Amino acid sequence: MSHSSAMEASKSAKLYQHKTEGVQKKYGIQLLEYLPVKHGDIIGEIGCGSGNLAAILARLVGEEGRIIALDPNMERIKVAKKEYGNLKNIKFISCKSVHLPILKQKCYDSFISNAVLHWIPTEEKIITFRRILSVLKPGGYFVGNISFNRSTNMQLATAMLTLEEQEEISGFYYRENPEKLKTLLLDAGFEIVEYKYRYSEINLGTVSNFLDWITATYYGKFDFKAAYKHVKNDIDFMRLPSGDVKHTSEGALFVCRKPLLIE
Ligand SMILES: C[S@@+](CC[C@H](N)C(=O)[O-])C[C@H]1O[C@@H](n2cnc3c(N)ncnc32)[C@H](O)[C@@H]1O
Repeated sequence: MSHSSAMEASKSAKLYQHKTEGVQKKYGIQLLEYLPVKHGDIIGEIGCGSGNLAAILARLVGEEGRIIALDPNMERIKVAKKEYGNLKNIKFISCKSVHLPILKQKCYDSFISNAVLHWIPTEEKIITFRRILSVLKPGGYFVGNISFNRSTNMQLATAMLTLEEQEEISGFYYRENPEKLKTLLLDAGFEIVEYKYRYSEINLGTVSNFLDWITATYYGKFDFKAAYKHVKNDIDFMRLPSGDVKHTSEGALFVCRKPLLIE
């Protein structure tokens, strides 16, 4: 990576940490309602980003517990270590979900994954789900969510980019249809405890805030603010009645469990 693109990546990871407070963190907190957590638990997080959810989990499991939080984006892991490195019961690891670390004692109590699975190709999901199952305790939970499509505002924003950039973005996502995701989990050997479709609207405030958020989400790779300057007079983002820009998300939330009878 060149010096300037390394700087961009680092800037975008900090922006991500800052701008996802209102969006991803909200979905992460929703997921916690479905995750049984006890003091002393060992919990794996797939795709921890800049570590906000891992930090909440670390407090819930206490000093006796442990959070293994992984993400392949090194810059986000650096931000996570800087923000939460003081919490001794979290280990942040820079790696993809297919390389999920197997602990000496082999047993995780549960796993969580917030707003990540649509970034993981189907073949890698298959490996990831099997690997999670193999390292979970019998009866251990895996709770997560996935989004199935891009919101209208995201589509409007990506349409402001060049055709090459738009094409690049479409290759970023791996969104199976809802039934397919369920099948992948069942095929891996999980029992489905709950599988819910969800639609939500989030207020991102100003256009500028929305553009920062989407820039950060795409690792600072696409400069949405610069693109907006050119189309400002032609494009108006969809807004809430208050006039604020909204982000909508359609997806599924799943709660699954390793059966008690398999190792
Ligand atoms: C929208 S972010 C969500 C981050 C975090 N869970 C949160 O709630 O803020 C998606 C994350 O998935 C990570 N990701 C992409 N591919 C991945 C993979 N193969 N394995 C694990 N994480 C991945 C990205 O680096 C990114 O940080």
